[in-house]
Amino acid sequence: MFYRPSEGHGLPHDPFKAIVAPRPIGWISTRGATGMLNVAPYSFFNALSVEPYLVWFSADGEKDSVVFARETGEFAVNLVGAKLAKQMNATAVDAPRATSEFDYAGLVPAASKLIAAPHVAGAPAVLECRLTQILEPTGLDGRWAGVYVVMGEVVGIHIDDAMLDDGLFDHRKAGNVARLGYMDYAAVSETFAMRRPRWGEGESAEPQPSAPPR
Ligand SMILES: Cc1cc2nc3c(=O)[nH]c(=O)nc-3n(C[C@H](O)[C@H](O)[C@H](O)COP(=O)(O)O)c2cc1C
Repeated sequence: MFYRPSEGHGLPHDPFKAIVAPRPIGWISTRGATGMLNVAPYSFFNALSVEPYLVWFSADGEKDSVVFARETGEFAVNLVGAKLAKQMNATAVDAPRATSEFDYAGLVPAASKLIAAPHVAGAPAVLECRLTQILEPTGLDGRWAGVYVVMGEVVGIHIDDAMLDDGLFDHRKAGNVARLGYMDYAAVSETFAMRRPRWGEGESAEPQPSAPPR
């Protein structure tokens, strides 16, 4: 099939987010100017550079995570490991601003090192971030898409030592949870490795079932 989004897909559910999948989940924790705590998942999330480490998440409207990040200039990104998937989902509840989703989902806020926003105790890894920009992207027609893209620089990184295997972050142990389409998720349970070819070197190596050192 082929369709123009402007003319509709004719399917029972919009396939767009199922195509752009799996998406990592930025589980964003913030502290508002008055001290209120917030944590919510954003699968329109990713990293975009390494020098400096920059990350972004995109919120459909002025959600609490955007408001709090703007107020304080800080947010933390918690990696969702397989063991925290249910609590992550619980924190997507549309709770009143004064409600902390930490309490609602039975999560423990852990003090961060460099920012006032707490992070999720037990997350396999956490990125402490300082806000760099909030973008308001437009479509081809120049109209605002209705989303705020919150970007930040990672200023501190926590890694649960148990997730390190010979100094490498073990995705399978953490079970990184990703968003697919519809109501579906995936957790990393199998990986394979491929060495990037160098020009003139011939055939690249076959995929290997388990990951050797990267
Ligand atoms: C797995 C998952 C991914 C989500 N991704 C997004 C997203 O990328 N952008 C968004 O606006 N909402 C997203 N949501 C919905 C928000 O988490 C939800 O609106 C939440 O209440 C926002 O919380 P906040 O107002 O405390 O920031 C997602 C929900 C789930 C369960």
